[in-house]
Amino acid sequence: MKRIFSGVQPSGTPTIGNYVGALKQFVDLQDQFDTYYCVVNEHAITVAQDPETLRKNTRSLAALYLALGVDPNKSAIFIQSQVPAHAQAAWIVQCLTPLGELERMTQFKDKAQKQDNIFAGLLGYPALMVADIVLYDADLVPVGEDQKQHMELTRNFVDRFNNRFGTKEEKLLVKPEIYTPKAGGRIMSLQDPSKKMSKSDDNKKAFISLLDDPKTIEKKIKSAVTDSSGEISYDPEDKPGVSNLLDIFSAFSDQSISQLEKTYANSGYGQLKTDLSQALIAVLEPMQKDYQRLLASSELDDVLAAGAKQANEVANQTLARIEKAIGFR
Ligand code: AMP
Ligand code: TRP
Repeated sequence: MKRIFSGVQPSGTPTIGNYVGALKQFVDLQDQFDTYYCVVNEHAITVAQDPETLRKNTRSLAALYLALGVDPNKSAIFIQSQVPAHAQAAWIVQCLTPLGELERMTQFKDKAQKQDNIFAGLLGYPALMVADIVLYDADLVPVGEDQKQHMELTRNFVDRFNNRFGTKEEKLLVKPEIYTPKAGGRIMSLQDPSKKMSKSDDNKKAFISLLDDPKTIEKKIKSAVTDSSGEISYDPEDKPGVSNLLDIFSAFSDQSISQLEKTYANSGYGQLKTDLSQALIAVLEPMQKDYQRLLASSELDDVLAAGAKQANEVANQTLARIEKAIGFR
């Protein structure tokens, strides 16, 4: 059975962009694949974090995985720092990754620009991501389109490592593929559809968080930027605002874009927005109830303990293989 690995940083409440690009895929893939889903708190500390907030966000994100439908009977759900092999393998990956490759990463350049102080971990971030993925021999990695460059770095690393330390017959590491959703791999800001929706946007109206209440969702969708043509059709170039709403609607209703275009051929933006809000609320409201229940339960801690155990077993085996290959054992 093919292996899946993915992770999300506990750096604030995920948005509907994170859901469409990544979390929804986590749920959809778990029936067909052997799935490992991680809360990547070691990635989160590449920028400054307040300890209490980090602790809270980590538990909250794990509860969200479950509330959104990641099933602990089908998937291993765990916290990165509870599997020491991630940090151990990341060091080795860093020592085998040319500085220039890390300096070229657009996510590094973007984040470095926004920080007053840049720490070494921010540059090493993609090496830790490589370690995450190769430790599980992952075949597929469900992520949003913004992670394409990190996935290319991972694939290059695997080729280099296998060439240098493996043999023709024995490939030491598995070369992973990126898995992005057909539509919605890049959900855009509701206020400026030329930039991606981000939970760290200063303008709160630009994103919908998975924990926003129904009134807030309605308000934010109502104020979403569209255009003046009044016509509902999918055209990301010329109608980026409306197309973004259709991408979101499609993911939350499981209707195709062309189905939606037909349904709304004779409607206005007002109707589209009202119905989209209802579709969002129909998914998010029951999920939020479950989330609150999970946060207060010990079930969550049991799931994370079992997930860490399962993850440690797999990761330690791969780490041993890597260490042997480079001359540590
Ligand atoms: P992060 O919160 O940065 O750890 O991102 C978690 C996941 O959500 C990653 O797979 C990202 O690629 C994905 N993601 C983040 N923002 C968006 C967006 N606006 N549209 C689609 N996917 C996204
Ligand atoms: N870099 C990813 C993001 O910003 C998070 C991440 C860390 C990840 N390690 C990973 C995603 C491994 C997939 C696989 O969203």
